[in-house]
Amino acid sequence: MTQISVIAIDGPSASGKGTVAQLVAEQLGFHYLDSGAIYRLTALAAQQQGVSWSDEEKVSTVAQYLDVVFDGERILLAQQDVSAAIRSEDIGSGASQIAALPKVRAALLARQQAFAKAPGLVADGRDMASVVFPDAPLKIFLTASAAARAERRYKQLLGRGESADLAVITADLEARDARDRARSVAPLAQAADAYLLDTTELDIDSAVKQVLLWWAEKLKENNA
Ligand code: DC
Repeated sequence: MTQISVIAIDGPSASGKGTVAQLVAEQLGFHYLDSGAIYRLTALAAQQQGVSWSDEEKVSTVAQYLDVVFDGERILLAQQDVSAAIRSEDIGSGASQIAALPKVRAALLARQQAFAKAPGLVADGRDMASVVFPDAPLKIFLTASAAARAERRYKQLLGRGESADLAVITADLEARDARDRARSVAPLAQAADAYLLDTTELDIDSAVKQVLLWWAEKLKENNA
């Protein structure tokens, strides 16, 4: 792969990594990859085609032929705007299930790597640092306590006018984390060379500032 500046941000669900990654990309004028959206799109496309989330062969074919257009904030699947549909808890759970299938991950690899374009990319997910962009000059593992993450997801759902139950959300997040950590391929884990950013007590602005500071340090090191 050519050397494009990539900032890899991995972490568990509802840690705020998506928001932080998007803001960092905006500040630096970099592209942004929400790799979770690609897994969610695959889960939704499989569901629409009547393919079971446990059928590795069929889901990997769905992944391979995914007809997706990222158009700013809008995500089109087979020309339909599915930006809201992929954010449901059901599709989140499906994404986590299909993400455990090695052939599905392999089918989605090149699609994710294609986002690395000049002047640079901020990529968020679970295996950005370990598998998709192992040469990224800056790797960050962004997390927060399970209680803080459940609270954030709870407020987000209420904000969208959906009904929410904090206990159910906590149990759901814990189940999803456990599955993402326990799978045999590309499990959710902090890469050895990744900085840890714990946002339990941090607001978004402070987290963004910290990432930009680390990036400035990396640039200095490389120019030294
Ligand atoms: O970040 P998210 O909640 O949108 O991701 C949805 C699911 O996709 C998550 O449970 C795990 C999976 N995923 C993954 O395995 N690898 C990635 N790089 C991104 C997401």
